[in-house]
Parts: sequence; structure tokens; C-alpha cells
Amino acid sequence: MKPELLFPRETIGRRVKELAEQISRDYEGRELLLVGVLNGAFIFMADLIRGMSIPCRVDFVRVASYGCGSQSSGEVRITKDLETPIAGRDVLIVEDIVDTGLTLSHLLNVLRERQPASVRVCTFLDKKERRRVPFTAEYVGFAIPDEFVVGYGLDFNEKFRFLPDVCMLKDIA
Ligand code: IMP
Repeated sequence: MKPELLFPRETIGRRVKELAEQISRDYEGRELLLVGVLNGAFIFMADLIRGMSIPCRVDFVRVASYGCGSQSSGEVRITKDLETPIAGRDVLIVEDIVDTGLTLSHLLNVLRERQPASVRVCTFLDKKERRRVPFTAEYVGFAIPDEFVVGYGLDFNEKFRFLPDVCMLKDIA
């Protein structure tokens, strides 16, 4: 299984900086809480926050959706919750990739019940054609075709997260 290059690190770096600038403009004068979705979003979130020019707090959630391999089970559950109360706060969920949309639509429902001032989603990658539930992220790094991708925090069975570029994995089950 040989990863094939999709986005080199220079392209990723430029796009993430653009996203950080756009978010900083949109939330000018406000304090944002970035909510990273573990594990995949940790590298994206680290780069995103360093490109921002407004004050940000951080917290993390972990959501079980894909047990193993590349297929969604359809079951979504929070296995590590936020430690920050979010009522009245501006919240931006930071995700590595939106695929079926199940994870984020579930997470959004849970977080909205806590009455934040606002909640939006910033995803590094978006596989729009794979949606099983309607879902649109407000900020998207790159829209990608229906390919399984790894690197820049994204894994296949916990492998390849460390790759600095985003690569496609062909021929997986
Ligand atoms: P969704 O609930 O189907 O939208 O799944 C979102 C989660 O599935 C992501 O946070 C990833 O953990 C995982 N995922 C979906 N597609 C890929 C991929 O191409 N590479 C790595 N992980 C993926």
C-alpha cells in the first residue's frame, strides 16, 4: 500500500494560513473557543491557531465513529467530552475531514444543546459526495474526491498520521 501525493506541505501551509486569516477577520473583536476533534485534527489545529490574529482558547473532544479501517459504522458517540463550559461562547469545531457527515451532525446537536453564542465548523478536508446526512461546514480547507487520504494528522488504522503531506491510499477495503 503506497501513499500517492495529493497535497504537498507547501500547498497545505498556504491554505491553512488563508483559513486562519479568514476566521480571524470573521471573529474580529471576539474570543473564540477552538474545539479540536481528536485524534485527526491535532496537526491542523496546531497550524491553524498559529496563523490566527485573535485570542483563542482550545479544548478537545473525541468522537468514536470509525472503529478500524475505512468504513463508518454509522454509530457516533462522544468518548471524551469538553472540559470548558460553552454556554454563551463562540465555538469553532476543528475537524480533519468530513465524510458521511454523521460525526459532525451528531456533535453539533450535542454542543448546540449547551447554548453557545455561536457554533461553526472548520474542516481541513471535505468529501462532499460521500454524505449520508446533510451537512455543510462554514470553513473548508480543500474539497476532495472520494478517495481515502492519510497524512497531516489523518490515519489508516493509526498509521501515516505523521506524514507532512496529504496522500491518497488506493486499494484499501
Ligand atoms: P464522518 O462521520 O463519516 O463524516 O467521518 C468523519 C471521520 O471519519 C473523520 O474524522 C476521520 O476520522 C474519518 N475519515 C473519513 N474519511 C477519511 C479518510 O479519507 N482518511 C482518514 N480518515 C477518514
